[in-house]
Amino acid sequence: MKNILVTGSSGQISSELIPALSKRGYNIISSDIRDPPKEELEYSTFTRLDVTDREALRQIVREYQIEGIIHNASILSAKGEENPYLAMNVNIRGLENVLTVAHEENVQRILSPSSIAAFGPSTPKIDTPNDTIMRPTTIYGISKVYTELLGEYFVLKFGLDFRSLRYPGIISAKTLPGGGTTDWAVEIFYKAIEEKKYTCFVKPDTMMPMMAMPDCINATIQLFEAPEDKLIHRTFNVAGISFTPQMLAEEIKKHIPEFIIDYKPDYRQQIADSWPKSIDDTVAKEEWGWESKFSLEDLVIYMLDELSKKLKSTVSSP
Ligand code: SER
Repeated sequence: MKNILVTGSSGQISSELIPALSKRGYNIISSDIRDPPKEELEYSTFTRLDVTDREALRQIVREYQIEGIIHNASILSAKGEENPYLAMNVNIRGLENVLTVAHEENVQRILSPSSIAAFGPSTPKIDTPNDTIMRPTTIYGISKVYTELLGEYFVLKFGLDFRSLRYPGIISAKTLPGGGTTDWAVEIFYKAIEEKKYTCFVKPDTMMPMMAMPDCINATIQLFEAPEDKLIHRTFNVAGISFTPQMLAEEIKKHIPEFIIDYKPDYRQQIADSWPKSIDDTVAKEEWGWESKFSLEDLVIYMLDELSKKLKSTVSSP
């Protein structure tokens, strides 16, 4: 498999996944409704695509002889609550288009991520199992349950090779996430470096599952390349580290002692409270060898280093 289409290519995850895939020898066609980051053009051929346009998608799949699709285009949780119809259109219609075109045009493999948002208030919150109650209360979460179930339906019905993984909050220094409930765990680093102060939009003790971008990229590529005969499941929990804003702030203070945090919870608190606090990823470990490599300490060092370089600021080490 060589020719891979990545949708949502200008977003947080794709902007780091595309260079990584390209370095592994894939020929990447990147697509987004927005302009691509400049660097992406070194690693991929960009083509503009609105995933809600099925025939435009089909044309790209034919023109570039696409063999695999990583379908990342999605409206995240907080933005989805501000505009549920947009989220329904992009997340649900977009997914239907990707799966339908993949099946009809004989694309071999699809990876379309799910999220911890696919869980809801009635899901067990600690060490949430891979197979459990899925009754999300956000439109984003509902669209992700649909992603998992429709993808698995295409496996059963048409033999499509569909895979999905439930990302926790992804923390990265290159591209900002757009409109998620876990965005505080990224924003805090920019503010700590630039202003030494951050006002957090969830309460200090809000424990959430998170993951550093290098772990996210490894998990995605590992699952995409996993031998199909080893997969009993098609959708997988992947855990990184769980922490609260208070815990993260304490760890940042070890490097930036003058950093202060205060709290002004908004509508995103309710979304955060409906999600798990920690994730059990035994199934991913067993079926395709997943393993997280980052501790909270590692994550903070990684983010401060990367962001300091990016923002050309200096941060002292303890
Ligand atoms: N980071 C996402 C969000 O907050 C969760 O998948 O919406």
